[in-house]
Amino acid sequence: MATKIRWGILSTAGIGKRRVVPAMKLATNGEVTAVASRDLSKAQAFASELGIPKAYGSYEELIADPDIDAIYNPLPNSEHAKWSILCAEAGKPVLCEKPLAIDAAESQQMVDAFTSRGVLFAEGFMYRFHPQAAKVKELVDSGVIGTFNTISATFTFNIADEGNIRLSRELAGGALMDVGCYCINVMRLMTGEEPVAAKAFADFGAKSGVDERLAGLLQFPSGVIGHFDCGLRVQHCHTYELRGTGGRIQVERGFTVQPDETPTIRIWRGNDYEEITVPAVNHYTLMAEDFADALINKRPPRFPGQDGVANMRVIDMLLADARA
Ligand SMILES: NC(=O)c1ccc[n+]([C@@H]2O[C@H](COP(=O)([O-])OP(=O)(O)OC[C@H]3O[C@@H](n4cnc5c(N)ncnc54)[C@H](OP(=O)(O)O)[C@@H]3O)[C@@H](O)[C@H]2O)c1
Repeated sequence: MATKIRWGILSTAGIGKRRVVPAMKLATNGEVTAVASRDLSKAQAFASELGIPKAYGSYEELIADPDIDAIYNPLPNSEHAKWSILCAEAGKPVLCEKPLAIDAAESQQMVDAFTSRGVLFAEGFMYRFHPQAAKVKELVDSGVIGTFNTISATFTFNIADEGNIRLSRELAGGALMDVGCYCINVMRLMTGEEPVAAKAFADFGAKSGVDERLAGLLQFPSGVIGHFDCGLRVQHCHTYELRGTGGRIQVERGFTVQPDETPTIRIWRGNDYEEITVPAVNHYTLMAEDFADALINKRPPRFPGQDGVANMRVIDMLLADARA
């Protein structure tokens, strides 16, 4: 394979338009070659706005294009599995948006479809590619907060449009699926463990039927306790904090760090703190570069798709408890 891969974009999704496609265009080892929509005129408008050479009026045409090396899938959550599996069957590697699917069983089917064919597959949790996440992990593992025993996280925002896919049960929306999945992911990343027990309280929308706010508790095998909240009708906040017997690591800008931001990590001991400022990066570009490099050099991605199944298993545990 050449030194640059050719990306195809499955749909005119807002996240592709606002963040991922512009970030992919900055990558050293990839270019964006085509976009597909259920509506050709939408694909053409997206292509012309973002400078993409080809536009298709169906997802099938994009998947069948021999000049596409990998596909980015930002469809609604309920559509991730169907279209990713069609890509796997066509031998096309996929970087799929979070959360992987509607539940862990469906996520496992996706991973199996790729693994059995030796085709690359990964989940698009971009925040893990920001050097901030690696720095926090390095700090906690080095013992700066003593024995790490507690982690908290919040990811909330106010939804602007009542027709948004996040307010649809049919499309597998809800706060936990949309943003709570980050809180779970960072707890699994920082502990390096899978939770053994989960509890949750949620406010299910009378009209939407999805969890519009949810608070969860997770118990990890080492004894770490995690607590988090997520919401679609709360002031924007994306933060996490690791606490231990001798201090705490406060991450104010945890997940949606902008490309021009230099996020600050605060290490508190008693009433004093020390700050570490992390360089500005575009974490979507780093994610796209990791995927392309894995494809070019035939190596696993930094975070293999199976991690997404494990994340989804925790979502299943929490939603089952919240609905019980
Ligand atoms: N990693 C991140 O930072 C991040 C941020 C936001 C969202 N996401 C994820 O990205 C995915 C898309 O989110 P988004 O906010 O970008 O969604 P969106 O703007 O609503 O776009 C979803 C796209 O899916 C296509 N689609 C296919 N079937 C559909 C259906 N039945 N109903 C509605 N749309 C349908 C549409 O494209 P066509 O009309 O062109 O076919 C639509 O534009 C979700 O999985 C979400 O969790 C990730």
